[in-house]
Amino acid sequence: MKGNGSACGKVILVGEHFVVWGGTAIALPLRKTHTRVTLRGNPASRTRIAMSAALDPFPSARGGGAGGAGGGGISPARTPDVRLRKAIGLALPVLAGQGRFELQVETRSDIPQGAGLGSSAAFSVAFCRALLDMQGRDCDDDLVAQTALSMEEAFHRFPSGIDSTTIAFETPCYVKTGSEFVVKTAPAQQGPRAGFLDVLPGAVLLLADSGERRSSRAVVQRVARFARQPKGDRILAKFTGVAESIALQTASALRKGDWEYVGLMMNENHLLLNALGVSTERLETLRNAALRHGALGAKLTGAGLGGFLLAAARPDAAARLRRALLASGATTVLVEDPGN
Ligand code: MEV
Repeated sequence: MKGNGSACGKVILVGEHFVVWGGTAIALPLRKTHTRVTLRGNPASRTRIAMSAALDPFPSARGGGAGGAGGGGISPARTPDVRLRKAIGLALPVLAGQGRFELQVETRSDIPQGAGLGSSAAFSVAFCRALLDMQGRDCDDDLVAQTALSMEEAFHRFPSGIDSTTIAFETPCYVKTGSEFVVKTAPAQQGPRAGFLDVLPGAVLLLADSGERRSSRAVVQRVARFARQPKGDRILAKFTGVAESIALQTASALRKGDWEYVGLMMNENHLLLNALGVSTERLETLRNAALRHGALGAKLTGAGLGGFLLAAARPDAAARLRRALLASGATTVLVEDPGN
């Protein structure tokens, strides 16, 4: 039996981190980047998994932290790491019932790992699609989104759902995780709500790679530690309130195609994230270059502490901005269309 699945990346426009603590995030699909999973399965008395992966075409050029790049080549078949095994183990009973398989998982991806573009959610969605395909079943986006979110729990512990939802539906989405902000020992996860967003054209998105890599899980945990410091909870609650207003205003500006206002909101959101301690010197350098060279707005995207800087620009300013970002140290600049 053989099955194929594919999924795109995502970029968070506003609200990352704060969405883990009861706020709202807005994300857009990155339709030019993909993770592809091929499964070969034989019925077996107990499930066994072997992996081969060609992950991360943008290896961490200048070093970086945990969750680093896997290199560009195809590594030989190997036992998946603990989190991957756990994630796959969570998906199998939901999508394959009592089925037990000897499973060969082959992954090819052009979504960099540990860079904030949704590599683990893309793997989860592509894996779910491949597993359904292997059984001759149609893809059910709701089921895939739900299963991918529980797989994400194995990778990130407290995923808000913004990555898996945007990637499973491949459309601009928002996710809100709680109506009230309450800092506990664990982030607020009650009652997440998600929906689609209309996005009118009017700008292009440039994604500049800082070359720094880190694990989202580690950065989310770092923010959780901040929340537990004296007064940390009150500061985070205040920031989350401001971020909530930014997210609502961004959604309304996107519906009108008012990218000048979206840019303003991106800038305000970045200042909050920087104050939360999840920016880096390289991201700040790239951001200053973006703002000096015609960006409507620029911010870190995803968990931060490295990864990509996101800039929005008018289409006629994109080429100049791209050159400026490369001259300021970006290792790669991706250009994407944000519309529905
Ligand atoms: C990761 O792409 C975004 C975070 O807000 C975590 C999450 O929402 O699950 C940092």
